[in-house]
Amino acid sequence: MSRLSLTTLRKMTAAQEKIAVLTAYDASFSHALEEAGIDVILVGDSLGMVVQGQESTVPVTVDDMVYHTANVVRGSEKAFVIADMPFMSYANAEQAIRNAARLMAEGGAQMIKLEGGAVIADTVAQLSARGIPVCAHLGLLPQSVHRLGGYIVQGREAQAAEELIADAINLQQAGADMLVLECVPAELAARVTKELTIPVIGIGAGKDCDGQVLVLYDMLGLTPGRRPRFSHDFLADTGAIQAAITKYVQDVKAGTFPGPEQQF
Ligand code: KIV
Repeated sequence: MSRLSLTTLRKMTAAQEKIAVLTAYDASFSHALEEAGIDVILVGDSLGMVVQGQESTVPVTVDDMVYHTANVVRGSEKAFVIADMPFMSYANAEQAIRNAARLMAEGGAQMIKLEGGAVIADTVAQLSARGIPVCAHLGLLPQSVHRLGGYIVQGREAQAAEELIADAINLQQAGADMLVLECVPAELAARVTKELTIPVIGIGAGKDCDGQVLVLYDMLGLTPGRRPRFSHDFLADTGAIQAAITKYVQDVKAGTFPGPEQQF
């Protein structure tokens, strides 16, 4: 059976049909997500924190990402699979092309994701020109946590908001096919979503994005410590893993997740 394509995701966005995305890192959860009707699986470098127990995503390697992406691809048949490019694996265009090729050829990803604004626009253009679908990532950039000084909401000030919108337009023009917006005020995310034609997937970015993503272990209530405000424990609501994932997909599709309490 063939996987969901970027063309289908674009059509869903044009038809205002919400895109449901979750992270996964192994074959069993990949299968569970697909059973629940997920559209897109993100093999996030969040695996550094939730699987490896690291303090941030910074130590994750390209080998780690290839390994987990291949596991996720083996566990599913229909979902569109995106793989994160880890910290400093795309510091220049040549390196980005080499590492993206590994994630696609060895891992089986259909798209790769990288974090950053104008500084990565040329790299995005070079990847795109070589036929590599790119998901950009703006707002809170976990790989830059040491520079940001923590996991803090971004784009609250007017100037930062305008810069984020300019970055988003720039990345779309450079060839990005999708954008993840993390931890930004809902109003700003709504403006970006309206401005762009590519699917905009939010996490802590309000209900008006074209789709939603959460870290799987957060929405199952497994992540130790305080759950991020923008997440929700669907396992506590339903009492079973498969039911929790299915509820998330249904709530995203219905536009009832996120609610006002999960946005900034
Ligand atoms: O690594 C990840 O899981 C991500 C999501 C938070 C969007 O990038």
